[in-house]
Amino acid sequence: MPSSDKKLRLGAFMRPASIHTGAWRYPDAWPDMNFNFAHIKSCIQRLEEAKFDAFFMADHMAVLNMPMDALKRSHTATSFEPFTLLAALSQATERIGLVATGSTTFDAPYHIARRFASLDHISGGRAGWNIVTTSNPDAALNLGLEEHMEHGERYRRAREFYDVVIGLWDSWADDAFVRNVEEGIFFDPAKLHVLDHKGEYLSVRGPLNIARPIQGWPVIVQAGASESGRQLAAETAEAVFTAQSDLAAGRKFYADVKGRMEKLGRARDHMKILPGCFVVVGDTVDDAKAKRQKLDSLVNYANAIASLSIALGHDASKFDPDKPLPDDIPESNASKSGRERAIALGRRENLTVRQLAQRLGGYSGLAMVGTPQTIADEMQEWLATEGSDGFTVMFPYLPGGLDDFCDRVVPELQRRGLFRRDYEGATLRENLGLPRPTNRFFAN
Ligand SMILES: Cc1cc2nc3c(=O)[nH]c(=O)nc-3n(C[C@H](O)[C@H](O)[C@H](O)COP(=O)(O)O)c2cc1C
Repeated sequence: MPSSDKKLRLGAFMRPASIHTGAWRYPDAWPDMNFNFAHIKSCIQRLEEAKFDAFFMADHMAVLNMPMDALKRSHTATSFEPFTLLAALSQATERIGLVATGSTTFDAPYHIARRFASLDHISGGRAGWNIVTTSNPDAALNLGLEEHMEHGERYRRAREFYDVVIGLWDSWADDAFVRNVEEGIFFDPAKLHVLDHKGEYLSVRGPLNIARPIQGWPVIVQAGASESGRQLAAETAEAVFTAQSDLAAGRKFYADVKGRMEKLGRARDHMKILPGCFVVVGDTVDDAKAKRQKLDSLVNYANAIASLSIALGHDASKFDPDKPLPDDIPESNASKSGRERAIALGRRENLTVRQLAQRLGGYSGLAMVGTPQTIADEMQEWLATEGSDGFTVMFPYLPGGLDDFCDRVVPELQRRGLFRRDYEGATLRENLGLPRPTNRFFAN
């Protein structure tokens, strides 16, 4: 059993609104959920009533890299730009955290620093930055480049990028803006630091033209799981979204990343590991399984095979669909951990290409499919055995799957003392139990 003060942290994965390619076709689901502001607003308000820690917007900076026959069936083809949406949602909510992806490969650190600082100020200290190196290679084609940067180089640039962004956030001491009306002094120059960064990949003068964020720095989130991804997480992240397939894998990942943190002199508790978890709630376990089966039956094979191609970083439509994956799939520049997970799943369960594709077209990662009680049992076990500190919940379809979680699973978790009944603080940091970072250039 977890100690009484150990509580689950829950984030909601909301862009795309459901990761499942069949979600928009499920009976009574909102087909336009992903791109309907009124729907999204009602969902975030529901999540806030349920006391979720954070609402998370992924971003790939391109439509999915799929053939048209698959893309034309994808509800993700149209969705809001994350910052515009989160700024609007910040005015419709008061406590829930607002986390967006910001790419270290395709964006500039100055842009990222000021956008997140703005969101943090506008939302009263609720912003979080998911540092990604961007998994979709097509983003390069939208942003003036011919090809995606090599995986290792992407991560080296990401590490330098992070240093620049936190340096820019620390441009101003918290009390720099004196606004002395009588003397006509707006800020104290002794409390301004000009970064003047010149590194391997980036050159940024500074200072940032926006005051230090309310949280000091917005909460730093990381999602990669390869060797380089784990190391970046250990060095920088305060929350980690990770794709884990089961509890054994989750525990290994947890021990590895928290161990790396300790070696770097960071306190284990200063990072919350929140694996993505697809949750389907039913009246009985069979009822929940039937819902998932119905949902999986809505996955078109074109999307299934395209999802497998994305995971492998290689065109899977060329493989014999009725044979297992070949042994010699060429190396790729795609995300490493997703590719390894897909190959391992196919081998472990001896799946044909067709079966494996069908699994990936739905959701092939960690899933909890059952009653509120069995789902709470599983979450409790993950928390108690250091599989995770909580979850990034993925809903199977909207709004029904989200309502089921908020109305039925959250009260069960609260009854067991595993989840808060009210927010502990005003900022995302306070709610996640994370310290406010000191300014690197000025003692707070
Ligand atoms: C919950 C979750 C959210 C993610 N969000 C994004 C995202 O918004 N944009 C993106 O390019 N990649 C996203 N990813 C993918 C990761 O950034 C990363 O590419 C992937 O986990 C593999 O990383 P690796 O190459 O370090 O193994 C996400 C992954 C997970 C598990």
